[in-house]
Amino acid sequence: MSAPYRLLLVLSTLIISPPFSSSTSHDTLGEGSRLAVKNPDHVLVSANNVFSAGFYPVGDNAYCFGIWFNDPSCPHNCTLVWMANRDIPVNGRRSTLSLLKTGNLVLTDAGKTVVWSTDTSSSSSLSLRLLNSGNLVLVTEEGVVMWQSFDSPTDTLLPGQLLTRDMRLVSSRSRSNFSSGFYKLTFDDDNVLRLIYDGPDLSSVMWPDHWLRSFQAGRTEYNSSRIAVFDSYGNFTSSDNLTFYSSDYGAIRQRRLTVDFDGNLRMYSRHDWRSSWVVSWQVFAHPCKIHGTCGPNGMCKYIPSIGRTCSCLPGFKMKDLTDWSLGCEPEFNASCAPTDSTFHRLSHTESYGYDIQFYINYTLDMCKELCLQRCDCKGFVFKYIFQNYPDYIPYCLPKSQLLNGYRSPNFRGDLYVKVPKTSEFSNDWPANEIKLDCSAGGVEHLNRKYEKSQGNGSITILLWFVSAVGILEALGMVSVWFFMIRTRQNRVAARSQGYVLAGTGFKRFTYAEMRKATRNFREEIGRGASGIVYKGMLDDHRVAAIKRLDDANEGEAEFLAEISIIGKINHMNLIEMWGYCAEGKHRLLVYEYMEHGSLAANLSSKTLDWKKRYQIVVGAAKGLAYLHEECLEWVLHCDVKPQNILLDSTFQPKVSDFGLSRLLNRGDLDNPSFSRIRGTRGYMAPEWLRKQSITSKVDVYSFGVVVLETVTGKNLAMQVKNADSKEEADRRKLLEEIRDMKYGGVSDALIKQFVDPDMGPDFDITKVKTLLRVALNCVKQDKNSRPTMSQVVQMLLYQKDDDQQQNL
Ligand SMILES: *[C@@H]1O[C@H](CO)[C@@H](O)[C@H](O)[C@H]1NC(C)=O
Ligand SMILES: *[C@@H]1O[C@H](CO)[C@@H](O)[C@H](O)[C@H]1NC(C)=O
Ligand SMILES: *[C@@H]1O[C@H](CO)[C@@H](O)[C@H](O)[C@H]1NC(C)=O
Ligand SMILES: *[C@@H]1O[C@H](CO)[C@@H](O)[C@H](O)[C@H]1NC(C)=O
Ligand SMILES: *[C@@H]1O[C@H](CO)[C@@H](O)[C@H](O)[C@H]1NC(C)=O
Ligand SMILES: *[C@@H]1O[C@H](CO)[C@@H](O)[C@H](O)[C@H]1NC(C)=O
Ligand SMILES: *[C@@H]1O[C@H](CO)[C@@H](O)[C@H](O)[C@H]1NC(C)=O
Repeated sequence: MSAPYRLLLVLSTLIISPPFSSSTSHDTLGEGSRLAVKNPDHVLVSANNVFSAGFYPVGDNAYCFGIWFNDPSCPHNCTLVWMANRDIPVNGRRSTLSLLKTGNLVLTDAGKTVVWSTDTSSSSSLSLRLLNSGNLVLVTEEGVVMWQSFDSPTDTLLPGQLLTRDMRLVSSRSRSNFSSGFYKLTFDDDNVLRLIYDGPDLSSVMWPDHWLRSFQAGRTEYNSSRIAVFDSYGNFTSSDNLTFYSSDYGAIRQRRLTVDFDGNLRMYSRHDWRSSWVVSWQVFAHPCKIHGTCGPNGMCKYIPSIGRTCSCLPGFKMKDLTDWSLGCEPEFNASCAPTDSTFHRLSHTESYGYDIQFYINYTLDMCKELCLQRCDCKGFVFKYIFQNYPDYIPYCLPKSQLLNGYRSPNFRGDLYVKVPKTSEFSNDWPANEIKLDCSAGGVEHLNRKYEKSQGNGSITILLWFVSAVGILEALGMVSVWFFMIRTRQNRVAARSQGYVLAGTGFKRFTYAEMRKATRNFREEIGRGASGIVYKGMLDDHRVAAIKRLDDANEGEAEFLAEISIIGKINHMNLIEMWGYCAEGKHRLLVYEYMEHGSLAANLSSKTLDWKKRYQIVVGAAKGLAYLHEECLEWVLHCDVKPQNILLDSTFQPKVSDFGLSRLLNRGDLDNPSFSRIRGTRGYMAPEWLRKQSITSKVDVYSFGVVVLETVTGKNLAMQVKNADSKEEADRRKLLEEIRDMKYGGVSDALIKQFVDPDMGPDFDITKVKTLLRVALNCVKQDKNSRPTMSQVVQMLLYQKDDDQQQNL
């Protein structure tokens, strides 16, 4: 369009168009009419009163034409779903949106320039209408849609709105800056829907994980139709076979799927404007997994009670104090001379991407030398990558950029930042080591209880289960553990991100309610180190397992802080906490009730066939992997045993009793001697008994014992009082025989001897071997030779696909 023509257009708008009249239907703008920025009444409202379209203030005297969810406080602080001109805001004076007689819809800045238009033309009369779906459409009298806002989404998808090829959702720049940001959801060239970080200097795929092949992430590349859509029930489907259901699946009035400014893709829901938005599904539970979060040279740390925090690498300072996504810049003048530089080591720190090259089997010194010699090398990651188990191979990864840094105790590698020799950047960094802690309960206490209850075969908590398996539970999502996370009630959004924790279901109960639910604590269903568990029925008729903590000697605020962490953890293989009670001295936890009781009880009552056992092992591994990885080890279980693996009506396992090590006896945290230790002898890793430092590998060890018990049906961890008894001798012998087994090196006949006869003849010998191999690796004496829980999951799921086990 030439400039004079533009001017003419504008002039014609000014002269011809009558202003928007509020007497006409509120959802429609007729041809030849306009909406003016200065007039607050010039807003289209959908017939159902859910959406509005108009000028939205985005800054000082800056406006965008957009659509938002209606709310009495609008248009100021509302949830925008669409914008015409997010990157070119218009002036607060004389800007208009006009539907010209030619059929073109134009947005004019300050009465001068056209900043946006639909480029439509029509000989018949058009009107602009805001539909109940939130779709702004330009329709002819015959109802033919000439243009619709649904075809050019910004950062949000609404129910019924199709995301198709060439469309993308693009995040906002920040919470308050609505211009285009760095995160995009779009169909990639191979037909797979991906969430991509596309920053100023670099870009990377964030989801599905780059190291997974599409099919491993449950996606297919073979359907080229490239369509994704979700319905008002929260059922999302995509042509690449991605499907998910929101946690509150069902008829809810308002839903949206948004690529948030922080890079996470979330589904939100609310009933109406009176309630707040609740996250009902999201891609990343762990915000540090989002690329670019802390910018270049920044490092992300996640603390559940606080949320995500960013810091600069040593020797770097924040570039823009208001914007972490711009990261940090060096405080030193980098030198290229190899003799001037040295390295600062950050343990257990990953810096993802931007490898200059990778070098296998290099020593640390070789890697250092390599990086010193290259001027473009800003540092390197030296890590051990899992090859065919049990081999870890050292990898040297020199980096041209230090991006996506995050610290995780599970990461088998260190980041070495290149700094000048003269610098003193290393002095006080990193400030706070992550403290891991398994204290709570008490060894003496536990042992006594353990032995006492040995006879009836059930020790700690026996939670039972109600079969109200939510719809989400029933429907599989994707294949790898990370994707198995079905956030039924996704309360995981970190508080620091400003999102409301989903309130659905997680609730505070009064003590009176608890008394009523348990009929005055009548029906005891389990007894554990931390308290007694009762069966109860809540007011909404859900059957619950209610645990009364004996020893919660902490204040209410601390209790609530810890509870909110446990309450945020959601995984299909972890028991769900529905709520809590903190009143006076009383501290109670309300859990879902598990119908089939514990793995221990089922093993001793001989009810489990091979298929169920395999499913239980895989599920429990996934639950623990989630606990370790997503919670970045802030939640170690510390008491993994068959009594703490509960089974639902379909014999899906759920790990229970996690998070309690944090809840009890916080005071002991600072006590280096671990005078009171949670855990159960027999399942406890050797380093723990030796009072060495505790890592997630203690859970891996215990898990290994559980797997051995599940396969052999024998109580291997049993504490036999008389060490000279035949029983004890047999147990030791069996353990030794199992330990001596080498994968592949044993005959099937021998393996059959180990297998629990109670599981019947129909077992898969290859899978039994896999289980034994995994278990034996888990119970290695040296904690560093044990796999992580996510590697365990990988070994169980992809036994024939070892080359994919890299890069974990
Ligand atoms: C917008 O909402 C936030 C919290 O929801 C509040 O703190 C802020 O003051 C509101 N801003 C305006 C302009 O109403
Ligand atoms: C929003 O971010 C863009 C891109 O960084 C910047 O150009 C613009 O000035 C920002 N707008 C406001 C209102 O801060
Ligand atoms: C996609 O999902 C459908 C239905 O669940 C299934 O039949 C089909 O095999 C899947 N395709 C691929 C390639 O996984
Ligand atoms: C979810 O949507 C898909 C595609 O529209 C449909 O095939 C499926 O039946 C829906 N599932 C439910 C539970 O409504
Ligand atoms: C491809 O995806 C579309 C949309 O989900 C679906 O309707 C179609 O049946 C799929 N085609 C094949 C061959 O699976
Ligand atoms: C870096 O170099 C500049 C100019 O060469 C100098 O002004 C500055 O002081 C130097 N900074 C440091 C930390 O040495
Ligand atoms: C690295 O070392 C391991 C063990 O020594 C060896 O098996 C492997 O082949 C080596 N890899 C390369 C690429 O040299």
